[in-house]
Amino acid sequence: MAPDLRALQTTPKALNVTKKKTASVTREKQVFKPSAEFQRQANLGSYAAYKKLYNESVNIPEKFWERQAKELLVWRKPFKKVLQWDAPHAKWFTGGKLNVSENCLDRHLGTARENKAALIFEGEPGDVRTITYKQLHFHVCRLAHIFENMGIVAGDRVALYLPMIPEAVIAMLACARVGAVHTVIFGGFSAEAIKDRLNDCKAKLVITADGGWRRGKVIELKTNVDKALNDAPSVQSVIVVKRTGTPVNMIEGRDMWWKEAWEGAPNKHDAKAFDSEHPLFILYTSGSTGKPKGVLHTSAGYLLGAKLSSHYVFDLKETDRYFCSADIGWITGHSYVVYGLLSNGSTVFLYEGAPNQPEPDRFWHMIDRHGITILYTAPTAIRAFMRWGDNYVLRHRLDSLRLLGSVGEPISPEAWKWFHKLIGKGRCPIVDTWWQTETGAIMIVPLPGSAPMKPGSASLPFFGVVPKIVDEKGKEVPRGTEGKLIIAKPWPSMLRTLWGDDERFAKTYFSDYPGIYFTGDGAKQDKDGYFWIIGRVDDVLNISGHRIGTAEVEAALATHPAVAEAAAVGRPDELKGQALVVFVTLKTGLTSSDKLKDELRAHVGREIGAHAKPDTVRFAAGLPKTRSGKIMRRILKEIAAGREVKGDTSTLDDFSVIAALQSED
Ligand code: WT7
Repeated sequence: MAPDLRALQTTPKALNVTKKKTASVTREKQVFKPSAEFQRQANLGSYAAYKKLYNESVNIPEKFWERQAKELLVWRKPFKKVLQWDAPHAKWFTGGKLNVSENCLDRHLGTARENKAALIFEGEPGDVRTITYKQLHFHVCRLAHIFENMGIVAGDRVALYLPMIPEAVIAMLACARVGAVHTVIFGGFSAEAIKDRLNDCKAKLVITADGGWRRGKVIELKTNVDKALNDAPSVQSVIVVKRTGTPVNMIEGRDMWWKEAWEGAPNKHDAKAFDSEHPLFILYTSGSTGKPKGVLHTSAGYLLGAKLSSHYVFDLKETDRYFCSADIGWITGHSYVVYGLLSNGSTVFLYEGAPNQPEPDRFWHMIDRHGITILYTAPTAIRAFMRWGDNYVLRHRLDSLRLLGSVGEPISPEAWKWFHKLIGKGRCPIVDTWWQTETGAIMIVPLPGSAPMKPGSASLPFFGVVPKIVDEKGKEVPRGTEGKLIIAKPWPSMLRTLWGDDERFAKTYFSDYPGIYFTGDGAKQDKDGYFWIIGRVDDVLNISGHRIGTAEVEAALATHPAVAEAAAVGRPDELKGQALVVFVTLKTGLTSSDKLKDELRAHVGREIGAHAKPDTVRFAAGLPKTRSGKIMRRILKEIAAGREVKGDTSTLDDFSVIAALQSED
């Protein structure tokens, strides 16, 4: 597919459209071209260069990926075959062996990068640590020895439940070094959620901290792990990082302090080589059922996708200082804090805490103090910055910044322009990156320096990616028409399966369109070939850029003794993108109250995590259902948004419930 960009060769001024055109057409015509100055220094400096590489990557993909894999990765044993595709199962670079941690660390030793900062860390209280590549290598080698002494062998699962501190990165790389499979659990998840994940993957070891700082308070991580471990028999040991000094209960024979384990472990570690398809990590994400999905990524293809995309999307230069505000507990933290950046030898800035601690200008302060050149953040954060007011931004220089990025949900043209003007000072290109936990790496993005940007559009496919917009039958729809977003060909960093549930993997991603990956997103392509992501078409919500399954929330509510039935839906929200609304039917004889609302919110917090607490709880005598008993969420969504209930209600069993729901508070 070759996007036709002739229409973009005009200046924004010439693109004024008549009032008759619809808002979306007007939107599609707003174009920001990269500056000549940026283009001159860019890793990919023209649209022609993008097109040439892109065409090669999709027309002769095996040749393209063979070259990239040979050039970008350090192999211990060369691969024999680039791709073995037996839909829905892909194997990339078979026959090859490598070590992912060696690709992120050892390869930089003995070069000018050896004493370069790999990590610059700032804790929420203001403590700063700089760790060079050589030092990071020491740390990782030591932990690798500790793992081996504990009997952790290749393939064992290790769970990490840590704040955004250097030890999180060290632990991930140490797992990779010994071939253990890490599963990072976001620090906001509750004990219940930790327990489910530990049991699902049968983790042998947990690495946590006494606590982490967030908004001036301590998040007690070890306490949550202790609770989870009451019912997670696979876990044999716990390593605890001392971060906040919060008193914790250490269980003899099970728990040990990171620092104590540390003493005496050697600084050098001979890393073994693992197969290209050796599992690297499991990352749990929400889907359409109550049970989270353990997305499995493997070694060579994932690393190549993360490394290649980091280089081009962030236009990485040796001198960059890169700040991604995502937590390590999400895929963005895996691909674009750790693997993609360290394999490129970049300096990564890590921040532990909240963006408004102590004041709403914390990011801008840090950007000036540390000379950050690239900022990768989320639309929900940008909306919060806008709300906090321009003055917090204007008192900082921000002149070190040269590139901005956005991820997690569609960015509105309004937020895009604010980001461009206030943070980027009109000088920095913005890369709006569309991708998913499952895709492992960025899939749709305007490469800076080569693609004109349209605010609100994730733009054009990355190398090797063949996205298409199709109808229910899988037929491509004409440009300008909304449809479902599929990825027509396999790519190296794609998920390989769902941990322990290959059937669900095949069904979720490859059965709507047999043998073809369905993203779960709706989108459209404009006449220039630019992709505009509309959002999820399944029962998954995007709340502040976090994926939350409505079924998971419903399952959590169902475990509360007062709840007879519950339905969760999303409502548009200015700040969070979507807010979570739950409709609850109480058991007979129970009466609704504000106290019970609070209790149900707290209950979901305990079952999943604070980020999944409903914004609104509404009690209902009955829920709208079809005659076969299926809850009609479409109707609930309209009620939640305060809209009139429109559309087909002919299958509704009992009309009176709608009126009753609308009159509820
Ligand atoms: C879903 C994936 C990929 C890391 C963050 C979220 C939405 C993601 C964009 C974007 C519009 C986006 C999609 C996607 N999404 N990036 N640039 N524009 N929507 O990862 O939790 O796996 O969620 O986030 O709906 O399917 P995730």
